[in-house]
Amino acid sequence: MKVSITNTIILFLIITQLLARTESISRGDFPEGFIFGTASSAHQFEGAVDEGNKGDSIWDTFSRLPDGTGEPNTEGIKYYNTFIDALLEKDAVWYEPITELDEDKEAAARAMDFSLGWFLDPLNFGKYPLSMETLVAERLPKITHATSNLLVGSLDFIGINHYTSMYARNDRTRIHKLVMQDAISDAAVITTAYRRGAAIGEKAASSWLHIVPWGIRKLMKHVKIKYRNTPVIITENGMDDPNRPFMTLQKSLKDDKRIRYHRDYLSNLSAAIREDDCNVKGYFVWSLLDNWEWNLGYTVRFGLYYVDYKNNLTRIPKSSVQWFKNMLRLEPMKISEI
Ligand SMILES: *[C@@H]1O[C@H](CO)[C@@H](O)[C@H](O)[C@H]1NC(C)=O
Ligand SMILES: *[C@@H]1O[C@H](CO)[C@@H](O)[C@H](O)[C@H]1NC(C)=O
Repeated sequence: MKVSITNTIILFLIITQLLARTESISRGDFPEGFIFGTASSAHQFEGAVDEGNKGDSIWDTFSRLPDGTGEPNTEGIKYYNTFIDALLEKDAVWYEPITELDEDKEAAARAMDFSLGWFLDPLNFGKYPLSMETLVAERLPKITHATSNLLVGSLDFIGINHYTSMYARNDRTRIHKLVMQDAISDAAVITTAYRRGAAIGEKAASSWLHIVPWGIRKLMKHVKIKYRNTPVIITENGMDDPNRPFMTLQKSLKDDKRIRYHRDYLSNLSAAIREDDCNVKGYFVWSLLDNWEWNLGYTVRFGLYYVDYKNNLTRIPKSSVQWFKNMLRLEPMKISEI
């Protein structure tokens, strides 16, 4: 058998390409025109808490309390923010039934109704989810016909902030309701990140943030089926590391866990688009820079760039910056180009 050098090289290139593709992800795994960006919010980044005649928000008041987390202050940072304003931007957790029992599947569906559906149902159908009408009953505000007509079909796209997933269990005894008075207790659902002692995914620094990459695919499929494939933009997705005062800079910059997080969430998102026909148009990383994280203050770091708070807010790229650069540069190699 005659094997030419060219054929061998082509074969080699194809194999290395295939190997690279199985453990990696690149812009080429997303449709043409798909938007990548980073997200931020004025309150968590900009400082200027009392400038331009700005009044206090509840967060300003909270952070000045003795046990508050201090004022957001990244004063002096002038960076460009690629965030776009969504008509609706909703924090959406994916709720996975904790067992295969119908009652838990129904509980997970109710948990979705009482979180994402609470906002998306009125905007798409002009009414609250049926489960909310039933369980919240007379405490649920009425949507008038006129409002309903204005709402239906008013969305250009759905902006979803997605970080994590949780298990949902039917709250048979409504025990939760005795302790908490919130939407999830009305829903008669117990949510938890643990099943028989095992976490649904590895934890990030924030206690609520478990890393569950398959959850984004299920969430996208849910939105597609339920909301008639309205275009979706993932307006926030990311994870935090603890801000440990004595950790070396070198160690803080090596954010391999963040790279794995985005690699796995993005590959599941890509599968949702390519294999499940979900209409997802963009993806924004939370966040460009380490920032002030509400009640956690500066104790956690969500950024692709490290902010040195003790040194003039110097910004230093973490490993994930180079990873994103490579990911966005790499187009899939077409055989015809080899
Ligand atoms: C989705 O994420 C899981 C981890 O949660 C990972 O094992 C799997 O390979 C990902 N699936 C795809 C299609 O990328
Ligand atoms: C911080 O920046 C200011 C203004 O550029 C400069 O005067 C000061 O020396 C800097 N401080 C440090 C610690 O680098």
